[in-house]
Amino acid sequence: TPDMHVCRDPRLIRLTGAHPFNAEAPLTALLDEGFLTSPELFFVRNHGPVPEVLDNEIPDWEFTVSGLVENPMTIRLHELMNKRTYEQHTYPITLVCAGNRRKEQNQVRKSNGFSWGAAGVSTALFTGVLMSDVVRLAGPCRKARYVCMEGADKLPNGHYGTCVKLNWVMDQNKGIMLAYKMNGEMLRPDHGRPLRAVVPGQIGGRSVKWLKKLILTEAPSNNYYHIYDNRVLPTMVSPEVAANEPKWWTDERYAIYDLSPNSVIAKPAHDETVSPVGGPETYRATGYAYGGGGRRITRVDVSLDQGGTWRLADIDYAEDSYRKASRALYGGKLDFQWRDTSFCWCFWALDIPMKDLVDAKDLVVRCMDEGMCVQPRDMYWSVLGMINACWFRVAINIEG
Ligand code: MTE
Repeated sequence: TPDMHVCRDPRLIRLTGAHPFNAEAPLTALLDEGFLTSPELFFVRNHGPVPEVLDNEIPDWEFTVSGLVENPMTIRLHELMNKRTYEQHTYPITLVCAGNRRKEQNQVRKSNGFSWGAAGVSTALFTGVLMSDVVRLAGPCRKARYVCMEGADKLPNGHYGTCVKLNWVMDQNKGIMLAYKMNGEMLRPDHGRPLRAVVPGQIGGRSVKWLKKLILTEAPSNNYYHIYDNRVLPTMVSPEVAANEPKWWTDERYAIYDLSPNSVIAKPAHDETVSPVGGPETYRATGYAYGGGGRRITRVDVSLDQGGTWRLADIDYAEDSYRKASRALYGGKLDFQWRDTSFCWCFWALDIPMKDLVDAKDLVVRCMDEGMCVQPRDMYWSVLGMINACWFRVAINIEG
């Protein structure tokens, strides 16, 4: 296969055929890892072959900054890693594929996308340079509004590419990075070795891997993968209509950027059998939640009666201690702190008295972010099957 040079963990569940490689960890294994996901179990979303980069080629990996800039640049990775020129940062960031939880959508009505479970999400400490520091040196022209990005992977319709807004890039609190390390080691091939963009709080599709180009433009990216992927088209657009009416694809309003609030139950697993007698008096239900656009999750509610009544779960924001620890470990000047943002998932837990579980058929979870946006009860189906954020439900069986 084209990816012969790439080693992969056998625990990863393949979601597509042999190639390209798309995979997620079993949900329980992912959660057992804790706050940081090891590179072996980090979800993988590749549109095509993984570019092969030899160790000795890494320092000379080049990327360019061009388009609406006063000073077009070609930068080598060893120059980017030089801390006298560019401030180096290490921060924990959660990446989420826009297709996370698509399996549930496909069960309702088949979309054009493959079936992600709920493990299309992972977290790592990313080390690199703020994209704003590079773009500032290149000097954006007044007309520039977007930063287009392009990767080295060769695909049927050109290189993978997309964009983010220039004003987001220049806002340091958005934390948009050019990263070369993940959890302290150089990026693995599947995750963009040797250089990728990392765009916190937005769908993973904007975090371009194997990064070769930054292009400042007035209009959004015209890359095929920016237009035909990572969009939520209106729900009435069927696969047939989408295939025959190009106008649905070119409307930039349908492009997804920020993630929306989402939460998932990891324990109990779907269809798990719970024994209410003979064991502990309470059952601890657990799972994860994440918000979008840097907004923190402020509550997680669990229902044992399909949303009739709700219980408030405890939330562990491990991100805060990791930010402090990574500053101590890796340094980084504190001229900004991302104090008011959240770029990571959090974990929730709820102790349920066993006696309350006896009559329950299922458990349902929903969360709310600091903008008071709550996960909707109902699913929004769209042709690409994306951003499924409706209440997450697991069926349970009570023994006896
Ligand atoms: N960048 C390139 N060059 N090629 C790709 O196929 N996939 C995107 C994004 N960046 C992609 C890419 C998508 S859709 C996602 S969700 C993330 O990478 C996945 O990152 P990961 O594989 O490191 O988890």
